[in-house]
Amino acid sequence: MEKTILITGCSSGIGHCVAHGLQARGWRVFATARLQHDVETLSGLGFESLQLDLNDPASIARAVDEILQRTGGTLDALFNNGAYGQPGAVEDLRRDVIRAQFETNVFGTLELTNRVLPAMRRQRHGRIIFNSSLLGLVAMPYRGAYNASKFALEGLADTLRLELTGSGIHVSLIEPGPIISRFRDNAHAAYLLNIDPETSVHREAYVRMVQRLTKAGPAAPFTLPPEAVLDRVIHALESPRPKIRYYVTFPTWLFATLRHLLSYRAMDRVLRRASKIEGR
Ligand SMILES: NC(=O)c1ccc[n+]([C@@H]2O[C@H](COP(=O)([O-])OP(=O)(O)OC[C@H]3O[C@@H](n4cnc5c(N)ncnc54)[C@H](OP(=O)(O)O)[C@@H]3O)[C@@H](O)[C@H]2O)c1
Repeated sequence: MEKTILITGCSSGIGHCVAHGLQARGWRVFATARLQHDVETLSGLGFESLQLDLNDPASIARAVDEILQRTGGTLDALFNNGAYGQPGAVEDLRRDVIRAQFETNVFGTLELTNRVLPAMRRQRHGRIIFNSSLLGLVAMPYRGAYNASKFALEGLADTLRLELTGSGIHVSLIEPGPIISRFRDNAHAAYLLNIDPETSVHREAYVRMVQRLTKAGPAAPFTLPPEAVLDRVIHALESPRPKIRYYVTFPTWLFATLRHLLSYRAMDRVLRRASKIEGR
């Protein structure tokens, strides 16, 4: 029997790569995308593609119902991948802006997860993978909304895993550092839409931040292609003993290790240096 997986955010980057990679391994991939035109592109590439906007509860319900109907009520795995980064200093984040960040990265992801869990509980097995981030483990300046959303995801995933003990459903977190994708382009668009540098005390730092977001090619050392995430997703799906956390890229290993070794104050110094491009 073909194994089935629902993936969010397959229009680009990691989701697109993982959808291709799993299909090539024989998985039946439900490759979802936020926008209808991307659904059509993915269908043209041979995927079973459905529209799923994490901000829209009706589209989450429609997609899950349709998938369960097509599979006869089962789903082996869910890869919670779709998300975006809202840049901006914490003191420049309006309530609606941070709420929008949580709507997509946290609330929509949780709602989708809770929608597929009854089928997984019935079948007594399942794999749920959250694509978190190095920035779900440590904070960096000018990424507060995104940091907070990924820290929240880490808390929900850790709690869910404890609550699913004995259910046959495994929960894993992927912790990528810098990966080649459209992430920076989309973050830049979110910055332009929601942050007003003219009225901000962080105006100068934003100039350097925009340079990083718009730089051609990798903006950070040790950037990896999305296939690096695919490898960890395959392990989380197919290993009899999936890991709880998968570190992807050297920066993830480094910062995740240092945060256990250093004092809070020393760790702050390291994180300030690592983000020196924003001048802090
Ligand atoms: N790239 C990195 O360096 C990096 C590092 C750590 C973690 N991550 C995580 O990796 C995941 C994938 O990001 P990526 O790097 O592949 O970036 P990406 O190329 O920007 O892909 C993000 C995907 O999420 C989708 N998405 C955004 N809002 C959505 C919504 N409301 N509903 C459904 N889908 C939505 C996007 O769809 P649209 O095209 O329609 O906007 C896109 O398909 C994210 O969870 C991100 O936080 C990335």
